[in-house]
Amino acid sequence: MQPMNKPGKPTSRVRPDLPAGVKSQREALEHLDRQTEEARLGGGQDRIDKQHKAGKLTARERIDLLCDAGSFEEIDAFVTHNVPSLADKKYLGDGVVTGVGQVYGRPVYVFSQDFTVFGGSLGERYGAKIVKIMDLAVKNGCPIIGFNDSGGARIQEGVASLGAYADIFLRNTLASGVIPQISAIMGPCAGGAVYSPAITDFVFMVEGSSHMFVTGPQVIKSVTHEEIDMEGLGGASVHGEISGVCQFSHESEPESIAAIKKLLSFLPQNNLEPPPFLEPDDDVNREDERLDRIVPDHPEKPYDMHDVIETVVDDGDFFEVHRNFAQNLIVGFARLGGHSVGIVAQQPAVLAGCLDISASLKGARFVRFCDAFNIPLVTFEDVPGFLPGVNQEHGGIIKHGAKLLYAYCEATVPKLCVITRKAYGGAYCVMSSKHIRSDVNYAWPTAEIAVMGAQGAVNILYARELAASKDPDARRNELVADYRERFSNPYDAAARGYIDAVIKPRETRKKLIRALEVTRHKRDTNPPRKHGNIPL
Ligand code: HXC
Repeated sequence: MQPMNKPGKPTSRVRPDLPAGVKSQREALEHLDRQTEEARLGGGQDRIDKQHKAGKLTARERIDLLCDAGSFEEIDAFVTHNVPSLADKKYLGDGVVTGVGQVYGRPVYVFSQDFTVFGGSLGERYGAKIVKIMDLAVKNGCPIIGFNDSGGARIQEGVASLGAYADIFLRNTLASGVIPQISAIMGPCAGGAVYSPAITDFVFMVEGSSHMFVTGPQVIKSVTHEEIDMEGLGGASVHGEISGVCQFSHESEPESIAAIKKLLSFLPQNNLEPPPFLEPDDDVNREDERLDRIVPDHPEKPYDMHDVIETVVDDGDFFEVHRNFAQNLIVGFARLGGHSVGIVAQQPAVLAGCLDISASLKGARFVRFCDAFNIPLVTFEDVPGFLPGVNQEHGGIIKHGAKLLYAYCEATVPKLCVITRKAYGGAYCVMSSKHIRSDVNYAWPTAEIAVMGAQGAVNILYARELAASKDPDARRNELVADYRERFSNPYDAAARGYIDAVIKPRETRKKLIRALEVTRHKRDTNPPRKHGNIPL
């Protein structure tokens, strides 16, 4: 018997001339439009409004801000979960938007977790979407940027969700050093979920709205009886200043996304390409006399190394990484003669520029990133040594300082170094010294390259004489002056070839640019091996 339509319902056969179940082209297009619109709405307008009310952008708005207008091509917009118990709650895309777009004309792969769908929680199909674009990013040699905003493992998917996380962790690890990986934390990121961003190269957070922790405030309260809120436990300032987990924190999502774009502008697409070249407006032969006066006459007086860096690099444009963490060491990207460089520099204005545990970790990670991605390293050195202290020794400054040493030793990218003032002791060896394969080493005339500072050396060498002296202060002053004359200068190192040239500070920019020109095609390798064993 022919089935009858219910009265009042439109007939399902708009085109009776077509076989049953076949749509006309127009209907097919309309269906696609409806599906696309449904996918675009994620968890629905109410949840989008809630997201906005919480001061957050949606997954798609973040992608729109990141990618060049109209460049984003979505992949897997119609993927849904496969969980029988959630069969009545299916959302096209399953809570994560993935695809490929362009940033300043260069392709990047992107995933953006959609908090409006099951709180952005990650299940099997959702994880498979991320894995798919990670594989594509590696295969096509493009950076990957992940926007994280998620309640973590989708509870209803159980172990399938954990497996999906592990699939991602594996790919993060295999992609490390092959393509740049950037994590933008735009909401919650808790439990084991934090380990994907932690493996990536750079973590961005937003003050007030992004949080990262392995166990949340409730669990901590029940286990250790400590009371703390989400912000105090794992907010942007905690991870930007104390733990060092995030390299960048910003006040708003648009600022954070703008910074991601700027970061990308310094990076190559992958480890087999050079970083992009930008024709410089700044004269490559520019000299700046201010540099001749920047180091104070008194050796114990601080100055701001940012002034040195900004005076030397193209257009004074220095993009600092980890700005608020271990401020005794400065790291970041800039251009010299249009070419990207990674800058590592002591900051004499903080802890006198001493290397401590945090600075060593910060420096080692940055040096290794630059080396992996063919970015030459430029070191500005003013270091009185490793920071003394029981905390530092008990905290493992030996193994952490060794990481920075190891990183510089294994780096085969062009390495340039300028000693502006102090280069004492082991820190002299660590900071891109000639002995560990630095290519070009300059010293300013104010450089003091010695085993230690004059005061410390005199106290050790002349302890007995000073104790017996009738006027120990006067004698100490004489001995210190003598030591300075003999050792606290660049000329002993220059006489041995450990320093290639003592240069006038004003010439630093042009000297570095010329050194970069000749070292750009440098070839250097490490012995074949499975991998080294960096002192972790
Ligand atoms: C399924 C989840 C979810 C999850 C949130 N939702 N987290 N659904 N699995 N993990 C759902 C909520 O039920 C809610 O659905 C919607 O998302 C929004 O969540 P709210 O709680 O209303 O939002 P908010 O108040 O902003 O709080 C966000 C939150 C909170 C802080 C993230 O939802 C939360 O604590 N979630 C659980 C976090 C967690 O413990 N996850 C597991 C971590 S362990 P409705 O339908 O009501 O809107 C982990 C292991 C990873 O992830 C292991 C890797 C190896």
